[in-house]
Amino acid sequence: MKFFVDTADVDEIKEIAATGLLDGVTTNPSLVAKTGRKFTDILEDICKVVEGPVSAEVAATDYATMIKEGKKLAKVADNIAVKVPLTMDGLKVCKELSDAGTMVNVTLCFSAAQALLAAKAGATFISPFVGRLDDISHDGMQLIADICTIYNNYPEFETEVLVASIRHPMHLVESAMMGADVATLPPKVIHQLFKHPLTDKGLAAFVEDWKKTGQSIL
Ligand code: E4P
Repeated sequence: MKFFVDTADVDEIKEIAATGLLDGVTTNPSLVAKTGRKFTDILEDICKVVEGPVSAEVAATDYATMIKEGKKLAKVADNIAVKVPLTMDGLKVCKELSDAGTMVNVTLCFSAAQALLAAKAGATFISPFVGRLDDISHDGMQLIADICTIYNNYPEFETEVLVASIRHPMHLVESAMMGADVATLPPKVIHQLFKHPLTDKGLAAFVEDWKKTGQSIL
């Protein structure tokens, strides 16, 4: 399973990339707005740190402008995945860019039917938003299960299931159990993954007991 980080903060990305566990990055207009920086500058910085796919979302919603924006974003670096919304125009852009060899991440997916359309449009990634579904009392993880089942039924679909809007570690664990290809995680959730109270307690005991031996390994 691939781990992407969901942020446009280059320092956060550098910190997580240093673990060697990072496979890619997703950004969106809200995350870019938080930085106060120029979008293309951020993308150039991220692509210097991360070799895997870096999702860059178009800002327009009409086909003509989205296709121009997508082509411009794709030129920033070879590992840019252009992110488009799951609309009819967005999927037209997806098909055109995918056919031209550009990676495309189709975002704002909230139904299995939409995921089916994105696969037919040649998307590299489909981004179903589990947390936002949970927020309105729908079952976000059931959507991941449904998409994985559908995509597995049709081996000709090459679209990877990229679980988005993850809010806590169990979203990741359940996604992995379902066989999702990618999870994009907020930095806070990545930090939570490392933590377990029994790890902290056990480590403190080992450190204390080691002191009693009076030895040094080095
Ligand atoms: C990722 O591509 C999405 O933009 C992101 O996961 C959305 O997460 P949110 O629902 O927490 O904003």
